[in-house]
Amino acid sequence: MKITVVGAGNVGATAALRIAEKQLAKEVVLIDIVEGIPQGKALDMYESGAVGLFDTHVSGSNDFKDSADSDIVLITAGLARKPGMTREDLLNKNATIIKDVTTQVVKYSANPIIVMVSNPLDVMTFVAWKTSGLPKERVIGMAGVLDTARYKSFIAEALDVSMQDISALVLGGHGDSMVPIVNYTNIAGIPLTELLPQETIDALVERTRNGGIEIVNHLKTGSAFYAPAASAVEMIEAIVKDRKRVLPCTTLVEGQYGIDNVYCGVPVKLGKEGVEQIFEINLSVSELEALQASAALVDENCKSLEALLAS
Ligand code: LAC
Repeated sequence: MKITVVGAGNVGATAALRIAEKQLAKEVVLIDIVEGIPQGKALDMYESGAVGLFDTHVSGSNDFKDSADSDIVLITAGLARKPGMTREDLLNKNATIIKDVTTQVVKYSANPIIVMVSNPLDVMTFVAWKTSGLPKERVIGMAGVLDTARYKSFIAEALDVSMQDISALVLGGHGDSMVPIVNYTNIAGIPLTELLPQETIDALVERTRNGGIEIVNHLKTGSAFYAPAASAVEMIEAIVKDRKRVLPCTTLVEGQYGIDNVYCGVPVKLGKEGVEQIFEINLSVSELEALQASAALVDENCKSLEALLAS
């Protein structure tokens, strides 16, 4: 197993280290355009293996040649959000970067699974899918796992219970239009609605929607990376170990939920082939409408990139 991480910034470096520590691959390659950064960070990580005891070989490079024959490529490259910036502001700049990166990735790896982390997430996953020519199952976006992690962590804090016992689902695009599905949220099987009053649940949902910007406002010069990296690695682990995890991921939705041909967050089964199944669950009318509205926003942004993608 060889895993390439594109982008040696906070998300990429944190994810690379986590992959190595979990020994999910024999080889991890960290790629970035900035000279020295991927080499230095990767060497430092590799040396940490002698203390943390992992044997994964970690190396850094500025050349996509070194990503050759990767089984999985995690893409974190691109500009991060600054305060006052929406994910959509990043659209055009990052689309150009992702198109370029994806072209390089598939030049050297014949049939990798691409896990996208760059924002605006759903649109960048679409850009990578279009550019790569890979089957849709093999180009997957990480958003739902992160949004669900935030939602779960806020619920755990509110109820003072273990995060492990919380089962929850956040669907839709990764943005202000995401859709936390309250009716499918339970604590060891107990519906959330039996444990917290509606106004508290509404506040948790709102905080989840603003989870990314809450971190940006604290950090001021960057955006979240620990939880995003952990979420991406959870997906990678499901793929590497063929665990058939059921996780909310961004995938090409073709007809399910009344959504046609749009990359959007829905519950999927994740295994060695990538997205192996999409689950279509019953949603309330308002949840379904919110999900469709979220997908429509993604679609609009994807369509605005048609010229860039055709060039
Ligand atoms: C977040 C940004 C990075 O959700 O999208 O943290």
